Amino acid sequence: MEDSIKMPRHVAVIMDGNGRWAKKNGVSRLTGHNQGMLAMKEIIKKADMMGIKYLTVYAFSTENWKRSQEEVGGIFNLLVKFVGSELAELDANNVKVHILGEYREKVPEAAIASIEKAIKTTADNDGLQFNIALNYGSRAEITKAVKTLCRKVEEGELKASEVTEDMVSRQLYTGDENGNIPDPDLIIRTSGEERLSNFLLWQAAYSEFAFTDTLWPDFTPEEFESLIEEFSTRGRRFGGR
Ligand code: IPE
Ligand code: IPE
Ligand code: MG
Repeated sequence: MEDSIKMPRHVAVIMDGNGRWAKKNGVSRLTGHNQGMLAMKEIIKKADMMGIKYLTVYAFSTENWKRSQEEVGGIFNLLVKFVGSELAELDANNVKVHILGEYREKVPEAAIASIEKAIKTTADNDGLQFNIALNYGSRAEITKAVKTLCRKVEEGELKASEVTEDMVSRQLYTGDENGNIPDPDLIIRTSGEERLSNFLLWQAAYSEFAFTDTLWPDFTPEEFESLIEEFSTRGRRFGGR
């Protein structure tokens, strides 16, 4: 990749299509999720190599609890497996692990313990920030922010008329207290679906989108790079001219 290419600072990925990949290949949905995890490992390495500062992946939504207990349990087991096998290497590569979402709620104990270990181990790293959106829902995130601001108003700390966009932003999972993550420059969704599914609704106000028919387990670092190259040719105006 040439130096002149404008790199996105923050790339977010909706990793979709594990189930369809499994069906296509005649294997269980969980095997599909496992293949998806392998694809994710490669994308983390690639993003790091490319010098991207923030990589966010949508791993589990607040709506994904609707799936069977077997599938949900399997997904969280995979997370434990991922942390177990990858944490040392992530840490050695100076990657900082961060979670977006209510990962302490409803999530199995073993997965919470793994997550907390990953966060703690990598807390002082300042390379790629790898954000895992887990038990994440944008509406829940915004509702939580509204509640916090309402409480401040109730307590007389703030007037309703003084509430700014910046104050709302700061209360989100991506806000101040959570590392102040810039809005995603590019949001990629695989598997041919073209929707946000409750992902980063506020933060995506001026994001660019890239959709590919590739099912997530088949998504390669080469395709990731080519979507970023295509992104770098786009003109972004942010409402200006
Ligand atoms: C994405 O793949 C992974 C998660 C939502 C956890 P899906 O499981 O949604 O795969 P499809 O959409 O059924 O193919
Ligand atoms: C979005 O995918 C959530 C994740 C990738 C974790 P879904 O497969 O859950 O979304 P819908 O149901 O197709 O909108
Ligand atoms: Mg899906």
